[in-house]
Amino acid sequence: VTERLSRAAAEQLDDADPLAGLRDRFVIDDPSLVYMDGNSLGRLSIATEQRLARVIRQEWGGGLVRTWEDWLPWPGLVGDRLGEALLGAAPGQVVVSDSTTVNLYKCAAAAIDALPERRVIVTDSENFPTDRYVVEGLARERGLTLRMVRSDPVGPLTAEMVSDAIDGDVALVTFSHVSFASSAIADMPAITDLVHRAGALVLWDLSHAVGSYPVELDASNVDLAVGCTYKYVNAGPGAPAFLYVNRARQPELRQPIWGWFGQRDQFEMGPAYDPEPGIAQFLVGTSPALGLAAVDEGLKLLAEAGIDRLREKGVALTSFLIDLHDAWLAELGFRVGSPRDPATRGSHVALRHPEARKLCAALIERGVVPDFRTPDRLRFGPAPISTRFVDVWDAMDCLRSLAAQ
Ligand SMILES: Cc1ncc(COP(=O)(O)O)c(C=O)c1O
Repeated sequence: VTERLSRAAAEQLDDADPLAGLRDRFVIDDPSLVYMDGNSLGRLSIATEQRLARVIRQEWGGGLVRTWEDWLPWPGLVGDRLGEALLGAAPGQVVVSDSTTVNLYKCAAAAIDALPERRVIVTDSENFPTDRYVVEGLARERGLTLRMVRSDPVGPLTAEMVSDAIDGDVALVTFSHVSFASSAIADMPAITDLVHRAGALVLWDLSHAVGSYPVELDASNVDLAVGCTYKYVNAGPGAPAFLYVNRARQPELRQPIWGWFGQRDQFEMGPAYDPEPGIAQFLVGTSPALGLAAVDEGLKLLAEAGIDRLREKGVALTSFLIDLHDAWLAELGFRVGSPRDPATRGSHVALRHPEARKLCAALIERGVVPDFRTPDRLRFGPAPISTRFVDVWDAMDCLRSLAAQ
């Protein structure tokens, strides 16, 4: 057992890793830093740094407003590339724009307004705060009822757990595909089916899934989805989010923020709002060209790695972490706050400990960077594209020495 969990064993896993070389494509100024927060803010790639430098200097600095013609199609262009590489979405259904929160609002409101005779929105108690707040606000605004499914803080959300909450009064059901807290993967295909059988629409938040788990939006017949790009897609702080609207639903949905980027023949500047018929209707205002360039570069690298290989490595990294926990940390007051079954676990692991907040600060002081989530979770997100098995080993080794003090 000791042999399998030795640092030399971690080095062997790195030697055998087909994605190992991709780490060199990232800016790593401090090679001793053990970065375990790829599920919060992904690393900067060298290609992204170079692309942004070009966009800033040549396209903005040199081209000035003349470059707008080039930038205008980016939200849909980058959206199509994202859809193909990571979301299982055919072209014409994804745009990159705004923040996840704003996209959630647009998509949730569009779904609710499409089924005006239905008075209920369903989400779950463990969903990410912004998701819960957005639907709480919408329910208040429209006089609807918000129904909260009590979900499991560790295990995955299943169709069985949500079935009692879904009936003919429900307009919209929204959950996260991969839980920000536990990393548990909700059963997207089965839950989507269940929602459709009740005649309602479903909206998935893919923030922790995109770039770490092969999502199949078209095949699962999902109605709507949103997600951020600054985690596993490595597009940087505040990079624009994406939204997906199933082509079959587009004609019946109208989003609530009527901006000029959703307008047909935008530069005709017509007197009244007359939205584009397709996914472009879901755009609002001027697109962030710098952020879009970063999303484009980020997803190019993920596409090169291949989402199936990234998923496979994510399972291997998190399984290794849990094995080290079991050998070293269980006896020091830790427990695993994520599913042990890799089939229902995303690319991060939550370790729970009463002193998690203090331990997180102490780890960061020693150059190991996870994050803390209230009340007692240490989240370790070893992004498969840039993290080594020795990083996982070093992080757990540092944690055991701190916890044993
Ligand atoms: C599931 C989920 N949704 C949304 C967000 C953030 O939303 P925004 O990008 O609007 O800040 C996060 C951030 O961690 C998240 O984990």
